[in-house]
Amino acid sequence: MSLRRSSAAALAALLALAVLLGTSADDGGQGQPIVARVSKDASTSLYTIAIKVGGVPLLVDLAGPMLWLANCPTPHRIIPCVSHDCDDVSTTYRPPGCPKPNLRGDGPCACPAYPRNPVDGRCRSDDATTITLAANAMDGQNPLYLVTFRAVGSCAPGELLESLPAGAAGVAGLSRLPLSLPTQFASLLKVANEFALCLPSGGDGVAVFGGGPFQLLAAPPVELAERLRENPLPLLKHPYNGGYYFGITGIAVNQQRVPTPDGVFDLDAGSGTGGAVFSTVTPYTALRWDIYWPLRNAFDVATSGIARADKVAPFDLCYQASALTVTRVGYAVASIELMLDGGRNWTLPGASSLVQVNDNTVCFAFVQMASSMPAAIDSPAVILGGHQMENNLLMFDLVKETFAFSGLLLGIRTTCSNFNFTMGSSY
Ligand SMILES: *[C@@H]1O[C@H](CO)[C@@H](O)[C@H](O)[C@H]1NC(C)=O
Ligand SMILES: *[C@@H]1O[C@H](CO)[C@@H](O)[C@H](O)[C@H]1NC(C)=O
Repeated sequence: MSLRRSSAAALAALLALAVLLGTSADDGGQGQPIVARVSKDASTSLYTIAIKVGGVPLLVDLAGPMLWLANCPTPHRIIPCVSHDCDDVSTTYRPPGCPKPNLRGDGPCACPAYPRNPVDGRCRSDDATTITLAANAMDGQNPLYLVTFRAVGSCAPGELLESLPAGAAGVAGLSRLPLSLPTQFASLLKVANEFALCLPSGGDGVAVFGGGPFQLLAAPPVELAERLRENPLPLLKHPYNGGYYFGITGIAVNQQRVPTPDGVFDLDAGSGTGGAVFSTVTPYTALRWDIYWPLRNAFDVATSGIARADKVAPFDLCYQASALTVTRVGYAVASIELMLDGGRNWTLPGASSLVQVNDNTVCFAFVQMASSMPAAIDSPAVILGGHQMENNLLMFDLVKETFAFSGLLLGIRTTCSNFNFTMGSSY
C-alpha cells in the first residue's frame, strides 16, 4: 500500500515537472492553479496557510511584502547581491527603523532582506534565500497532485515568531509587491496572477492561486469564481505599501446611512493616510474614531431592544446571548452595509457583525483603531479584519487590479470549510 502510494507520488511529481517544463515562459496561464488549506488559530484569531513542505504552516499576511521563514538551516542558499532577485528584494518595502544588515568580511555578498512580524511590527535584517514550497495542483473541485517549487524569500531569527500562532514557521506575504506569494506563483507555475481566499471561522478554509473555477460543497455544489470575476471592483494603489486598498463611500445600518463627515473614507494618494484596506492580521475590523463612533452609536440605537451584557475587552458593546435569536446568517440583528464603489453594498449580517465571546455574551465585533496600531502602516481609516472576511470568498486579480467578494456564504448554505480536500484523479 505504502509502496503504491510512493510510486503514485513519484508519478505525480513527474507530472508536476511536466507541467512546469511543458509550458513556455511567455504563453501565460497554461499551468494548473494550486490549492492550500488555510486554518484559524483559536488563541490568536490569526490564519495560517499550509504551503511549506510537510504542511508546516505560515502566517497569512494579505498585506505582507514577501515570504519569510524562521531558523534557516546553516548553511543556507543565499542570493547574490548583484542579481535580479536581489533587486526585487531591495525594492520591497523596508520598514522604517529596521536594523541595517551586518556586513560580512568574506565570501560573496549575500543579498539582505528585512523580515517583519506583521502582528507586533518588529523587524530584523537577515539573508534573502530560496524557500521550498509544496502545494497541490487543483481542478476547481479537488486537489490533484503535489507540486514543489522554490520561491525567493528571507530567513529570519527565531525570536521573530513570537506573537504568531503556535507552530507557524514564518509568514506568507500575499501583497501586490513583486516577491509576494501570488506573484511568484504566477511566474513559477505559469498561472494567472490572481488568487482566492476563503477564511474559515473554524475548520479548514482554502486559498487558491492561479485562477480557474472554484467549487464549494453545498446541496448541490456551487461554482463561485466565474460569477465573481464578472463583478469586480477596483483596488486602489497605496503610495508606499502593497496592501489591498479599496473604496468605501459610506456605511449604513438597517438601510440608513450612518452620518460621517465628508471624505472620512478617502485614501490620500500623497501621504498614504486613510482609505480602507483588507488585513488578515487584524482579527476584528478596526475603524478610525470618526467612523467607529457614528457606526457604533447607530448600531446601539438599531439594537436598543436587545438586553445588554457587561463589556468584554476589546469590545465596547455587548449583548446577552440569550436575548438574541439565531438565523442562517447568524444572530438576528440590524445588518450593516459597507457602501462600495459603483453603488455596490457589502452586507454584514449578524454572523459578520457580532461575535460570541463567552457562553453568555455576544459583542459588536468592531474595534476603535489605536492611534499607533502596529499592524497598520500609514494609518488607514478602515482595516477590514479577519472576522468580517470569514466565510466570504474573496478574489484578488493583481493584473487587472480588482477584487471581488461573494458576500456571506452562509446565505447560500455553504461555508469556507466546504472545499473538498479529497484528492481527485489527475489524468
Ligand atoms: C446600498 O445600501 C444603501 C444604504 O442602505 C441603500 O440606500 C442602497 O439602495 C443600497 N444599494 C443597493 C444596490 O442595494
Ligand atoms: C469529494 O471529492 C471526491 C473526489 O472527487 C469525490 O469522490 C467525493 O464524492 C467528493 N465528496 C463530496 C461530498 O461530494
